[in-house]
Order: sequence, then C-alpha cells, then structure tokens
Amino acid sequence: MKSNIITSREVKRGYFRMEFEFAGEALPGQFIMLKVAEHNDPLLRRPMSIAGLDGGVMSVIFKVVGRGTALLAEKKAGDHIDVLGPFGSAFTPPKTDAVLLVAGGIGVAPLLFWAKRNPSRRAAAFIGGATENDILCSDEFSEAHVATENGSVGRKGLVTAPLIEHAAYKNKTGYILACGPTGMLKAIDQLAVKDGLRGELSLEERMGCGFGVCLGCVCDTTGGRKRMCVEGPVFKTGEVLWRT
Ligand SMILES: Cc1cc2nc3c(=O)[nH]c(=O)nc-3n(C[C@H](O)[C@H](O)[C@H](O)COP(=O)(O)OP(=O)(O)OC[C@H]3O[C@@H](n4cnc5c(N)ncnc54)[C@H](O)[C@@H]3O)c2cc1C
Ligand code: FES
Repeated sequence: MKSNIITSREVKRGYFRMEFEFAGEALPGQFIMLKVAEHNDPLLRRPMSIAGLDGGVMSVIFKVVGRGTALLAEKKAGDHIDVLGPFGSAFTPPKTDAVLLVAGGIGVAPLLFWAKRNPSRRAAAFIGGATENDILCSDEFSEAHVATENGSVGRKGLVTAPLIEHAAYKNKTGYILACGPTGMLKAIDQLAVKDGLRGELSLEERMGCGFGVCLGCVCDTTGGRKRMCVEGPVFKTGEVLWRT
C-alpha cells in the first residue's frame, strides 16, 4: 500500500521518527515491512515495529544502520512510502496492571505503542542505551527509569539494574514486556525465569520476506522451530532457546 508521509524528522543523531497515513488496524508488538526505494534496489523490504497508530496515522522510529535505513531517512513529508502489513504476533493483554516495559535503544518503539494504547495501566518503563543519544521517547511514558552504559544520562549501567529493584519486580507481581538487542532480551529472559516473573519479549532479528515464506527468521523455542515473522516476533519469557 502506498502511503503519504506526513512527517519525518531526526529526533536524535541517527534516529528518525516518521509518520504516514495508514488505513488499517494494528496491535502493539506487530511490525510492518517498508519498501525503502522506488526501484528494486535494495530488493528486500525492511521490518519496522509500529511505534503508534492513531486516527489513520502510523508512526515508526528507526535508527540508520545501513543502506536501507539511510534511504528511509532521506524521505520527506509529502513523499510516498510503500507499506505492507501489519505482520506477526502482538503482545497479549497482561492480567495485571503492574506492567514492566523494558526497552533497549530502538526497542522502545513497540513499547511506546503499547503504552499509548493502554493509558490506564500502571506501567513503569525502563529505557536503556549506550549513551544519552540512544535514549528515545523516555518523556512519553508516565513512569520512566533511564540507564546508560556510560552514565551520560540516568543511572550508569545496564537497564536490568533499575528493573530488578522495582517493587513490582521484587514482589513478582510485574508482567514484563521487553524489546531490544538480543543480548538484552536474553538477559531479561534468564532473570525473569530465575526470579519467577512472567512476560513477553519482542525479537528484532534479521528478516527476509516478513510473511512466513523464506524461513530466514526461524528460531528454536520450547514449542519447536518457529518463524519470528509469523509466530513471533513476540514470544513468552522462557520460550526462546537462545543460541549462545
Ligand atoms: C520485527 C522487527 C522489528 C524491527 N523494528 C525496528 C524499529 O522499530 N526500528 C529500527 O530502527 N529497527 C527495527 N528493526 C531492525 C531493522 O529492520 C534493521 O535495522 C534494518 O532492516 C536494517 O536495514 P539496513 O538496510 O539499513 O541495514 P543493512 O545494510 O541490512 O545492515 C546494516 C547492519 O545492521 C545489521 N542489522 C540489520 N538488521 C538487523 C537486525 N534486525 N538486528 C540486528 N542487526 C541488524 C547488519 O548485520 C549490518 O551489520 C526491526 C527488525 C525486526 C525484525
Ligand atoms: S522473514 Fe521470511 S519466513 Fe520469516
């Protein structure tokens, strides 16, 4: 579907937020596949988490890491973008109000969408990144705990430190929703299993087709081999069998 881009701006160095028209519905945790160039080079679409969808306007937040995202960053308001989706599984509605949203870098995108769709929930966000420049949207959550590896903003260290000190983590009532780099997700998964908390992880590994055909995104889980783009990207804690 060709969509009209409403805004596109650099929100932090190398990080962009784009809003475009979208006529369908989508749920937090799902993703779309964006065609980054008019021609077919690069051929493959790029997967992006949905960061918001309200009143026919969808938003994505992305980091420029290679050719595809660099082309995406060149697009301006008034340009068109070819959008496919939504695809994949969504976060399931937690049975508790004590929701712990844990984001690493660009992983904040689907959690922001979740927070906007669930304003009445007592959710605490834990947002981590390497430096201040990698901390996005922390002011858009009602409760946010920030951690950076170099201490340039928030607490110095990993985002798991403020997470495990939170009351809803310590008393095991918290339900974790996490998205970020694989190492962070693996650490949170192992902590949650060890400490007896439940939750869900949204994986952002590499994808090919995005809709179940190429098998380029298969991961091992306790329920057998699953495609991240169809059965995921959202998996329960304790479900993914980590490779390393
Ligand atoms: C379900 C899902 C949701 C995603 N949501 C977002 C999002 O909201 N915002 C965002 O910025 N990115 C997101 N990504 C990652 C995004 O799709 C990639 O960054 C993008 O496809 C890279 O394209 P490129 O052409 O710029 O980089 P490439 O030229 O393809 O790669 C550049 C470098 O980035 C690495 N890389 C590429 N893709 C990934 C990946 N998925 N994970 C780790 N390293 C990668 C490559 O190994 C290479 O080193 C998501 C990925 C998935 C699977
Ligand atoms: S990306 Fe092709 S099957 Fe998942």
